[in-house]
Amino acid sequence: MTKTAIITGGGRGIGRGCALELAKQGCDIVLVDLIPEDLANTKAEIELLGQSCRTFLADVADFARAHDILAEIEAQTGPVDILVNNAGKSNTAGITEITEESFDRTIAINLKGAFNWTHATAPGMLRTGRGRIVMMSSLNAYTGGVTSAVSRFSYTTAKAGLLGMTRALAKELAPHILVNAVCPGIIETERSNAMIRARKDELVRGITMGRTGTPADVAQVVAFLCLSEPCFMTGQDLKIDGLQWII
Ligand SMILES: NC(=O)c1ccc[n+]([C@@H]2O[C@H](COP(=O)([O-])OP(=O)(O)OC[C@H]3O[C@@H](n4cnc5c(N)ncnc54)[C@H](O)[C@@H]3O)[C@@H](O)[C@H]2O)c1
Repeated sequence: MTKTAIITGGGRGIGRGCALELAKQGCDIVLVDLIPEDLANTKAEIELLGQSCRTFLADVADFARAHDILAEIEAQTGPVDILVNNAGKSNTAGITEITEESFDRTIAINLKGAFNWTHATAPGMLRTGRGRIVMMSSLNAYTGGVTSAVSRFSYTTAKAGLLGMTRALAKELAPHILVNAVCPGIIETERSNAMIRARKDELVRGITMGRTGTPADVAQVVAFLCLSEPCFMTGQDLKIDGLQWII
């Protein structure tokens, strides 16, 4: 039976890459994002691959909206099989300049967003007795963001929180729902391009594989975590960084 996969922040970048790869591997797709044009463009690409694609304009930080959308999806096609908690946004403010509101917003998007969507999705997965959840963490959760020119401590805090959430939920939801995380290193996307372009030579010197990553590099690993059968992996996090972590 065709699997249904939700990808938050699926309109562009890594999320779009994951959506396209899961569609190529036969999944029907649900995209959640803030930007209507990006949702429409990615939906068109998925439909060209022959899979169905539903789109929802939503802020992942909105708990009630996540639950309303899940109710609508489940009424149409039943519980979903796969959730990729990808939506995220960096924050360059350091500890001496960040406001409480800015810190809260970073946690709300990058950490609570994953809670909101997992809270909405997991009950349906438990009813069917199967499900896969992937959290989009970051290499920053390990490095503290040392490759950055500027502080990203609030973002790093949220991304490290996702790793704790991954391990705890993997235990709580086993054996039916497998919960894993990925930690991308430097991936060239719309979001990261300006920063990467400005310092590309310096950044690439710190990557053993001698190049930055692409959304497709991340998508292949996410698709493996979502679709491989059988699978004896849960509560894990995989670094996708071209070996930057221990160089
Ligand atoms: N690009 C990298 O180098 C890199 C490295 C490590 C981790 N990541 C993580 O990968 C994920 C994707 O990053 P990207 O580089 O593709 O970024 P991106 O900005 O290109 O894409 C992020 C997508 O998420 C959407 N989004 C942002 N906030 C949202 C919200 N509140 N509600 C719904 N949608 C929202 C955006 O509209 C966008 O479509 C993020 O979680 C990011 O932290 C990226």
